[in-house]
Amino acid sequence: MIKKHLLLLFLSIAMLLNGWAQNKGHIILSTGKFITGNDPSWSQPGFTDTGWKDQRLGEPWQRQGFQDYHGYAWYRIHVIIPSSLKASAAWKDSLRIFLAHVNDVDETYLNGKRIGKIGTFPEDPEGYISKWPAVRDYHLSASDPAIKWDADNVIAVKVYDGGGSGGIFMGTPYIDMLQKIDGISFENPAETIQYLPGGRAARILHISNHFNTQAEGTIAYTVYDAIEKKEIAKKDIKVTLAPFSQQNYTIEMPHKMGIEIAIDFIESQSNEKRTFKQVLPYLLTPAVSATPRINGAKLFGVRPGSPFFFKIPATGQKPLTYQVKNLPAGLTVDANNGLITGKLTKAGDYKMILVVKNKLGQSERSFTIKAGNLLALTPPLGWNSWNCWGLSVSDEKVKSSARALMDKGLVDHGFLYMNIDDGWEATKRANDSTIVPNEKFPDMKGLGDFLHSNGIRFGIYSSPGPRTCGGYLGSYKNEALDAATYASWGIDYLKYDLCSYTEFMPRRNSSLEDNQKPYILMRDELKKQSRDIVYSLCQYGWQDVWKWGPEMNGNLWRTTGDIEDSWSSLYRIGFSQARLSEYASPGRWNDPDMLIVGMVGWGENLHPTRLTPYEQYTHISLWSLLSAPLLLGCDLAKLDPFTLNLLTNDEVLAIDQDPLGKQARQVLNKDSIQIWVKDLEDGTKAIGIFNLNNDFTKATVKWEDLGLKGAISVRDIWQQKNLGVKKGEYTETVPPHGVHLIKVSGFDKT
Ligand code: GLA
Repeated sequence: MIKKHLLLLFLSIAMLLNGWAQNKGHIILSTGKFITGNDPSWSQPGFTDTGWKDQRLGEPWQRQGFQDYHGYAWYRIHVIIPSSLKASAAWKDSLRIFLAHVNDVDETYLNGKRIGKIGTFPEDPEGYISKWPAVRDYHLSASDPAIKWDADNVIAVKVYDGGGSGGIFMGTPYIDMLQKIDGISFENPAETIQYLPGGRAARILHISNHFNTQAEGTIAYTVYDAIEKKEIAKKDIKVTLAPFSQQNYTIEMPHKMGIEIAIDFIESQSNEKRTFKQVLPYLLTPAVSATPRINGAKLFGVRPGSPFFFKIPATGQKPLTYQVKNLPAGLTVDANNGLITGKLTKAGDYKMILVVKNKLGQSERSFTIKAGNLLALTPPLGWNSWNCWGLSVSDEKVKSSARALMDKGLVDHGFLYMNIDDGWEATKRANDSTIVPNEKFPDMKGLGDFLHSNGIRFGIYSSPGPRTCGGYLGSYKNEALDAATYASWGIDYLKYDLCSYTEFMPRRNSSLEDNQKPYILMRDELKKQSRDIVYSLCQYGWQDVWKWGPEMNGNLWRTTGDIEDSWSSLYRIGFSQARLSEYASPGRWNDPDMLIVGMVGWGENLHPTRLTPYEQYTHISLWSLLSAPLLLGCDLAKLDPFTLNLLTNDEVLAIDQDPLGKQARQVLNKDSIQIWVKDLEDGTKAIGIFNLNNDFTKATVKWEDLGLKGAISVRDIWQQKNLGVKKGEYTETVPPHGVHLIKVSGFDKT
């Protein structure tokens, strides 16, 4: 995959306590012999590889002189394994051969003995399946005769690269003796936090032993109040873990911002220690009110003559009934589910009032449909499969997340897109060249019907190149056919990802025209369809796409490379958007990539986001200020209370969905405090005060720096509460990498 080497993921919480750390005496495997091609005899220890090239291990071969090579290759890594490695180990059970990640498939041998295989090769019965996110962590019994102690050993790795970068990457390969601590993990899902009455919270620690041996050790934990700067609890617990067992411990603490938990586990036999730190996920969004409230977009674009459908997102105690005052001719509303359907034949602005009632009351809100050429008049809110399932997405996984989108009420807050990313395409087109889904998607039209009947829009992914970034079929030379096929499945949104189209562009200095050509082709095909398809350009911001995205009729365009769930990635992407403010407007959005909260993983093994709660508040606040699409990239079926609370703050979402469609401007960047201001339709302003320091920091907003004066009313948006009138300036303590998001009104301009 083109940018998968950027995804320095997974080294997260999982790594902290499940054995990714190297043990004493480990041997780094820094280079190997390398050749492209494939021959089974290369696995054999006796083979002479002196003519092969040297490769650094841990970096894709594209960075080592094999620029355009995709396909088979072999590494032969020579290493002397000293018997002292075993002799000095506390636990002498198993040798570990750690090869980090492999793009995309590997089969690994030690001295001719096969010790592991991850992914499948094109010649395998299942066909090619990339498993690059999986870690190659192979274990062998220390008494295995394949190991030649104190002699030259050959680790031979057969690799297949299906596209993008290839080879052993994203980590440093090594050999060591496994220790019992490598089998110990602390699972850290946010759902193991319990929010108790009386402002208390409990953290349930699941400590597991994944090995078939008893392990003993000490859990030493402290709970720290980072705002008060004091330790509030400290304890050592002796534990004995039977083979393959799990134990739970509960740690209680106050439920508030700034509570940090540090846990050490010291394994008795080896005296090895692993440390685990966590900030307590604290809830800021108040509980949803039982009285009706209408959420989501206030503005909606449709082309005259296209099928119209929009579900009114509303919260409140069920059952709710829906009604629309001034509903234009051609449209009807379903009173029971709020689905507005029909057709508008004439261009123009149609203003109406949405009304939602329940037994406790009613709520009204204005809503404008603009029948014209522009779609996505507010940034798309919904879900995309990539940051979660990667290429392992399936119909069942999409449906399970769609059900969760409904059951957990996200639809009621306006999350109305379900977008399938890469990995849905079959290996071959049908005989008439029509694109067909693979076996994981038995019925695309059926999936679309299911989503539509629930008011959810249906998105799909392709590339203008012959291959997608994941190595699947792209739309190259089949653009017309593909656009028509998508329309026949009921597709409402297309993410069009450059990927292998770069083969047709000059390697260096590609022109604006080279960059636009593939997007023009698909633009013209989408235009011909009798349904509206939102056009999402994905080419990583090349050639300042924000300047010409509107000409492509793009509704949104990625402005950067791929995001990952780390602060450095969030920081690099999110805070670099300032120069793009002027390019956002209704129907034309800068897209700093999808959300990285909840259970993410780019494949089958998901992990909780590595962002701290402070960083997650920053993420959602900043994206809302930026008028960015909010596409959830997590397993919604596993949504924990914190993430749900984070994603369902209607006042925050309203900032994102504000009909004025402005993108926030950065008005201050000093001493690692940044202030971003977004003008809102009602004349008020949303202000994000971000603290990029590593500690709690007091930040002051001076109204005059924002061009404001007067007695200014301040509202805390996350807590949805008024903070009163502030004259001259406003000061608040902001968490590390965190945000204080406010809305101001009642000001005069200076
Ligand atoms: C690229 C895109 C990602 C995702 C993958 C799919 O890397 O930038 O968002 O769509 O391709 O392979």
